Amino acid sequence: MTDRSTQWDTPPSNLVLEPEDVHIWRIALDQPDWRLQHYAQVLAPDETTRAKRFYFERDQKHFTVGRGALRMILSRYAGLAPSQLQFTYTSYGKPALAETTGGDTLRFNLSHSAGMALCAVTRNREVGVDIEGIRELSDLPQIARQFFSANENAVLHTLPQEIQTEAFFTCWTRKEAYIKAIGEGLSMPLDCFDVSLVPGEPAELLATRRVEDEASRWLLRELFPGDGFLAAVVVEGHDWRLRCWQWPG
Ligand SMILES: CC(C)(COP(=O)(O)OP(=O)(O)OC[C@H]1O[C@@H](n2cnc3c(N)ncnc32)[C@H](O)[C@@H]1OP(=O)(O)O)[C@@H](O)C(=O)NCCC(=O)NCCS
Repeated sequence: MTDRSTQWDTPPSNLVLEPEDVHIWRIALDQPDWRLQHYAQVLAPDETTRAKRFYFERDQKHFTVGRGALRMILSRYAGLAPSQLQFTYTSYGKPALAETTGGDTLRFNLSHSAGMALCAVTRNREVGVDIEGIRELSDLPQIARQFFSANENAVLHTLPQEIQTEAFFTCWTRKEAYIKAIGEGLSMPLDCFDVSLVPGEPAELLATRRVEDEASRWLLRELFPGDGFLAAVVVEGHDWRLRCWQWPG
């Protein structure tokens, strides 16, 4: 059995990110209005426009807090003001920092679900992170058949009913973290790789069938953001160490 907890520390004021460091930030997206204003002020015009496009006010606020916090977090590593950071986007929509504002070495990935976000930051290592609020799904077997590989479905079926939901979200977050590290979105076939999914067993990217030896290029770790949530991070290389920080620090 693995240790099923994650320690979320208060970051030091002199935060250092060495090439072997992987930092994960936990962000609560429900924030008081005075703080929301503060986040809104650091957004770029296109981000403000995007925030306004959300139909529900709660989603507008969550996007503003998530983007604002992302800018504030990255600014600590880039040594620039949050509003000075510029993002670029791949053709699949994966955001990165512009080279001139820290993107020459800094990499990051963000995920949000059910009022919580995680932001992973690395130096010169591709990274993908995913968080999910655990919820009961009436159509769990159908979703699993649609999105999980044959091997993953076979394992899921062997598990007792009472841990099926947890196993499902364990699998989901691990697959999504890998997809997000690769960055090609759902254009990447979801059945071309297998992850471990039995709760309590080690998190592993077991096999990839698209590129030979691809699985050995990455390391997968599970994260526990809090009650009712599951999360995973996939990072390039095997020689990294994880530190988890609480935002605002
Ligand atoms: C877009 C996608 C990358 C993630 O979507 P998601 O799980 O709904 O959302 P998350 O909260 O985890 O991640 C969203 C963030 O990822 C980042 N992102 C966007 N496109 C990305 C990409 N191609 N690769 C990596 N990260 C990406 C952005 O920062 C985005 O935040 P923003 O919306 O505030 O700009 C993509 O994988 C997707 O569409 N997934 C749909 C879910 C699914 O069917 N998963 C099957 C898993 S078995």
